[in-house]
Amino acid sequence: MTTTLLHQSPADFATPLLVIFAADTATTKDSPATPTLLNSSAAIETAATPWLTSADFKAALGETFLLPAPAGIQAQRLLLIGLGKADKLTPHELRKAAGVAIRFARPRTLRTLAITLPEHRALPAAASIRAIAEGAILADFDIDFYRADRKDLSIQSLTVLSASPITEALQTAFNEGVILAESQNFARTLINEPGNILTPTELGKRTAAMAKDFGLQCEVHGIDKILELKMGAFASVTQGSPQPPALIVLRYEPPTPPSANSPILGLVGKGITFDTGGISIKPAADMDKMKYDMAGAASMIATMRAIAQLKPNVRVLCVVCSCENMPDGHAFKPGDVVTAMSGKTIEIMNTDAEGRLVLADGLHYAQTLGATHLINAATLTGAIGTALGQINAGLFSNNDETTKHFFDALTITGEKFWRMPATDDYRDQIKSQIADILNSTGSRYGGATTAAMFLKEFVGDTPWIHLDIASTTWLDDPKPWQSKGPSGVAIRTITEWVRSYAS
Ligand code: BES
Ligand code: ZN
Ligand code: ZN
Repeated sequence: MTTTLLHQSPADFATPLLVIFAADTATTKDSPATPTLLNSSAAIETAATPWLTSADFKAALGETFLLPAPAGIQAQRLLLIGLGKADKLTPHELRKAAGVAIRFARPRTLRTLAITLPEHRALPAAASIRAIAEGAILADFDIDFYRADRKDLSIQSLTVLSASPITEALQTAFNEGVILAESQNFARTLINEPGNILTPTELGKRTAAMAKDFGLQCEVHGIDKILELKMGAFASVTQGSPQPPALIVLRYEPPTPPSANSPILGLVGKGITFDTGGISIKPAADMDKMKYDMAGAASMIATMRAIAQLKPNVRVLCVVCSCENMPDGHAFKPGDVVTAMSGKTIEIMNTDAEGRLVLADGLHYAQTLGATHLINAATLTGAIGTALGQINAGLFSNNDETTKHFFDALTITGEKFWRMPATDDYRDQIKSQIADILNSTGSRYGGATTAAMFLKEFVGDTPWIHLDIASTTWLDDPKPWQSKGPSGVAIRTITEWVRSYAS
């Protein structure tokens, strides 16, 4: 999709489809919906107003109303899209509504459209322009890569029309939205790939190609390096698979070298390209979904892709531990004791709790590479879905300061994370009789927190955030602004978290 930001009156712009946003300005709960256009163009008001009072269109969030061949304007079709209640309006509604525009156009094989930047005091221009760019590009993603009859419905060209002149700040906001959404779609493409195609080796290749395109340093190591580093936890997970593992390291160096004591951010991702559960094998139902058990890795790689383009003045490194979790004669077993890179011994209670094992070594390794702040993303536990459903992802941390950076980032991106406890009261549950810790408690209580407690053992005093995205990384049903399948959650927010440390 090519994207253009243009200073032009919408009525004068010739396009197959012109999108105008409206909000419901009804002031009390009981008064009827009052759909109001958020653009001050006389010609468009003339074309649309009869339909605003007809009750055909109430401006509910995502509601659409098409006017073919509107008189007095250049566009062939005028599409009204609702943003919901005006008094609840934020740029986050606009992100969704811009997605609705794209998903309206695609099945109608409209390849070109224009979206008018709405004017409202709750919609600052820069944030709104960025939200439209993000929402539109994210909505142009679909999952049917492997269908012979796949119809390419993708949008060729989007123009965002602004009533006010395009300042440098507005153009920057637009470009940032494009970079973030394209990076998020890059991750979604990886997450959507089946396990037989996206092996750890293939993930390494695609990451290296991306790094080359965007000027990041990249190393992809195999089993020899993993053993040399004494990553016994990571090595135990991969040993039941004929597919070689991949230890991927990406580095971003800012254009102006920051001072010696400035932060180095360490991004760590769980990259299990298929999780059978291993010897503690999973039931057949939904096991196919375990191709997405590398979503944490994809999120971090995609975040690095965005950072390489946004160029914040802060050092960032990324460690991805990628392998399969398979049961064969070489596989690790319940009861085994393995030694992590940090030196801690782990008694394996359940081979399906493999994500925390690869992350233990990834988190430790990132610290040896110099990370002063750690953030990891992982499809770690089914229990996080029991706790939070598919709306909020889980956040765990040992540090309020870095957590605040993350929650501030959420106000920019509109993503939803809920902080969960990871206090030492829960530490007893992972005590082992014969080793330092257990990889699984065997209890159904607090499963997402006990997984976080396990990770916490490997971060020491380093400020650390763990994001459990197991229940939010895959959308089972499509939304009007989003395809079903991989959501690409966390990437935009982690990127903002990184930028919050820039000097
Ligand atoms: N990859 C799974 C977690 C998962 C479950 C992700 C559902 C997405 C959807 C993880 O490796 C796992 O199997 N966790 C176990 C841990 C248990 C054995 C302590 C779980 O959640 O059941
Ligand atoms: Zn598992
Ligand atoms: Zn897993």
